[in-house]
Amino acid sequence: TPPALLRNFCIIAHIDHGKSTLADRMLQLTGVVDDRAMRAQYLDRMDIERERGITIKSQAVRMPWEVDGQAYALNMIDTPGHVDFSYEVNRSLAACEGAILLVDAAQGIEAQTLANLYMAMENDLTIIPVLNKIDLPAAQPERYAEELANLIGGDPEDCLRVSGKTGAGVVELLDRIVQEVPAPVGDADAPSRAMIFDSVYDTYRGVVTYVRVMDGQLSPRERIQMMSTRATHELLEIGVISPDPLPSEGLGVGEVGYLITGVKDVRQSKVGDTVTNQTKPAAEALGGYREPKPMVFSGLYPVDGSDYPVLRDALDKLKLNDAALVYEPETSVALGFGFRCGFLGLLHLEIVRERLEREFDLSLISTAPNVSYDVVTEDGTEVHVTNPSEFPEGKISSIREPVVRSTILAPSEFVGAIMELCQGRRGTLLGMDYLSETRVELRYTLPLQEIVGDFFDQLKSKTRGYASLDYEPSGDQEADLVKVDILLNHEHVDAFSAIVHRDKAYAYGVTMAGKLKELIPRQQFEVPIQAAIGSRVIARETIRALRKDMLAKCYGGDISRKRKLLEKQKEGKKRMKNIGRVEVPQEAFIAALTSD
Ligand code: GTP
Repeated sequence: TPPALLRNFCIIAHIDHGKSTLADRMLQLTGVVDDRAMRAQYLDRMDIERERGITIKSQAVRMPWEVDGQAYALNMIDTPGHVDFSYEVNRSLAACEGAILLVDAAQGIEAQTLANLYMAMENDLTIIPVLNKIDLPAAQPERYAEELANLIGGDPEDCLRVSGKTGAGVVELLDRIVQEVPAPVGDADAPSRAMIFDSVYDTYRGVVTYVRVMDGQLSPRERIQMMSTRATHELLEIGVISPDPLPSEGLGVGEVGYLITGVKDVRQSKVGDTVTNQTKPAAEALGGYREPKPMVFSGLYPVDGSDYPVLRDALDKLKLNDAALVYEPETSVALGFGFRCGFLGLLHLEIVRERLEREFDLSLISTAPNVSYDVVTEDGTEVHVTNPSEFPEGKISSIREPVVRSTILAPSEFVGAIMELCQGRRGTLLGMDYLSETRVELRYTLPLQEIVGDFFDQLKSKTRGYASLDYEPSGDQEADLVKVDILLNHEHVDAFSAIVHRDKAYAYGVTMAGKLKELIPRQQFEVPIQAAIGSRVIARETIRALRKDMLAKCYGGDISRKRKLLEKQKEGKKRMKNIGRVEVPQEAFIAALTSD
């Protein structure tokens, strides 16, 4: 298809504002999926997903659409709806010329809508504002059209009103995509350059890579090269998805589709990378490529130590489909053998953990998440710290921590509460805008460490659930941080060490010491629990000694009862961990790590 007849677009929407429903309706109206197959198709897809345990969701679908007797091809590119994947969202947007800004007409704009809108604007996309769910009795299209017009400029009347559910307005929307979204532009005679905007692992076919061709063309059987690694592959298959994969004779300027090279690991097909022809390579890669970078780290341990090999195999399998997941073996006095894992963010951590538990039938414990720090010691040594145990001893001259740029949206009555929360989390206000009289947008820079805890829960509870949050990495900043260690009878309990802001060290120490005091059973002797920065103790609790000999109860009683008691203690001891002389049931550590 010549570029003039192509339109590449994506749908920007907050979760639940109806993106999937609208996409399905478009597939139906363009005839890509017929009415009867719609339901069946949907169910099939779910079955396959369940069977294979992977998502084979289409990342880009091609739809034919005619306007004034001219046949166009519309490529709808999916964007991940997940706050941790802002880089992937950014690359998906970079593959498009236009974006539908889809807003639930009963809910209005939310933080995710805004964050993605800003990214679309940075990528110079043409924005088509659309209000969805106009069939709902609670819909207020007039009100929210006003909000949208305020936000992106233009007339409230330009805002389309549709219902993905009934199909109302969707034909007009498809027409407007053709009329308003610019055709892609590129140099057909230049060496080929295609941008990877997604890559997924398929059990049968290996990695399926989604690309947008910028210049030149890619054809089956040619040898291609990934420009970031210089690795070369044979292009086994290339084509478009509509809605099933359709192999083609190649993809030209502006086209969007998939390619298969037979590689088995998504790390060989990195989002943001440039694909070129090996024999006639482009001189320069497309801009904007970034290595996937884990931002949040946590230890993952099997509750049952004998599951360690299962966990290792499970992680090996998951990483085939997850370029951002990194891990290395780690041992902990308190928790045994496990892995130190790196994630894009807190939700990514939760997804990985849930998949490990559900798909591999594991029961896991994770240590409190932390971010990574660049520490410079007084003698000038630089250390990249992803685990509190790596934090250098002795005098520190500087520490840098990652920060995020966040967007918070809420009813204006909660502005005070939100500001208080963000200030308490070391936030810096970047700006504040009223979208209407009653709804306000706050933009803050926040240390990532302050968000990976309970920030979102706090935000929700302080705004009765009305606030929404989105954020993206935004470099790093200098910070006054210390490592707090927890000592049990003067022995270090590694799983509870944390890197925290100096002002919060005391609170952390008191909380952890208090928690452990509640959870660790009494011993034959007195056990101090201390929180310390280096050798300086900042908080202390004491577990008092047991007074009576446990066996005293059995004196004079029958011997079998006594033996039973000893037997039972031995049983329990199997799951006991020794911290120096102190015996602690593993459950106590697990409870201390999971309870709030
Ligand atoms: P995620 O994939 O979870 O981000 O959600 P989404 O934005 O894709 O929304 P989805 O299409 O799954 O729709 C969310 C809910 O809204 C579902 O319960 C839909 O049935 C409902 N819904 C979607 N579009 C409409 C609409 O036009 N009218 C009405 N009344 N309900 C709709």
